[in-house]
Amino acid sequence: MRYAVLDGGKRLRPLLVLGACEAVGGNQDAALRAGCAVELIHAYSLVHDDMPCMDNDVLRRGKPTVHVQFGEATALLAGDALQALAFELLAPPDAGISDRTQARLCRLLAQAAGHAGMAGGQAIDLAAVGKALSEAELRQMHRLKTGALLQASVMMGAACGEPDARALAGLLQYGAAVGLAFQVVDDILDVTADSATLGKTAGKDAAQDKPTYVSLLGLQRARSYAGELLEQARAALQTTGLADTRALLALAEMVVHRDN
Ligand code: IPE
Ligand code: IPE
Ligand code: MG
Ligand code: MG
Ligand code: MG
Repeated sequence: MRYAVLDGGKRLRPLLVLGACEAVGGNQDAALRAGCAVELIHAYSLVHDDMPCMDNDVLRRGKPTVHVQFGEATALLAGDALQALAFELLAPPDAGISDRTQARLCRLLAQAAGHAGMAGGQAIDLAAVGKALSEAELRQMHRLKTGALLQASVMMGAACGEPDARALAGLLQYGAAVGLAFQVVDDILDVTADSATLGKTAGKDAAQDKPTYVSLLGLQRARSYAGELLEQARAALQTTGLADTRALLALAEMVVHRDN
């Protein structure tokens, strides 16, 4: 579990939690727990994603994948245990976080990780190997497998405060745009970056015949779609009426302009 979580990784999801919490003036202790919880779910999803029964990858965050290092059964169980630990972190016995906030955070994370979020999207991803998806189908797959957890990170940060309905709606839109943009860029980097920069094996999507934004639209149009999503994220932040969304704006820019 430590090997999967403690070194490497951009920590984007926790940063989104903290950025959203800052924007709504929320409880920072709750946000720190929420950020760690979502990163644990993310790390578990990577451990399982890399296993031979899924993407069969040997490199992650610049190191051998967990199943290569420790064996498949240990990788499976480490993933399971990371998921459990995430929810344990969200429900501490005496941490000054209201029961209501704890329940909200658990609900947001559970919904984003489960059948209508990451796990469901991963199932679609595996079922889609070798198939040509329509743009709507591909968008839905990406929204679930990757977008849901990123959007939930934003909403968990928001749940650490008491934003009004307008702010909440804007943050939801922002999270949707950033979440989808993230996987569009992941698809692009799989083609354009090298393994050393990525810390994971480049070129895997084409090798495994996965439908991606690059296979659907080509590199240039995939790039301009990512740019469009960044504009959507920016516009959504402006509708929130929140005074300080600078961190969230910077994170959206980082998602689209990153090189790993
Ligand atoms: C990779 O996520 C997996 C996807 C959801 C596309 P990240 O690119 O955020 O991975 P780390 O956490 O930085 O290693
Ligand atoms: C992974 O998508 C999404 C997850 C839920 C882990 P990918 O399979 O494209 O992620 P990478 O490229 O292996 O990081
Ligand atoms: Mg995968
Ligand atoms: Mg993968
Ligand atoms: Mg990928």
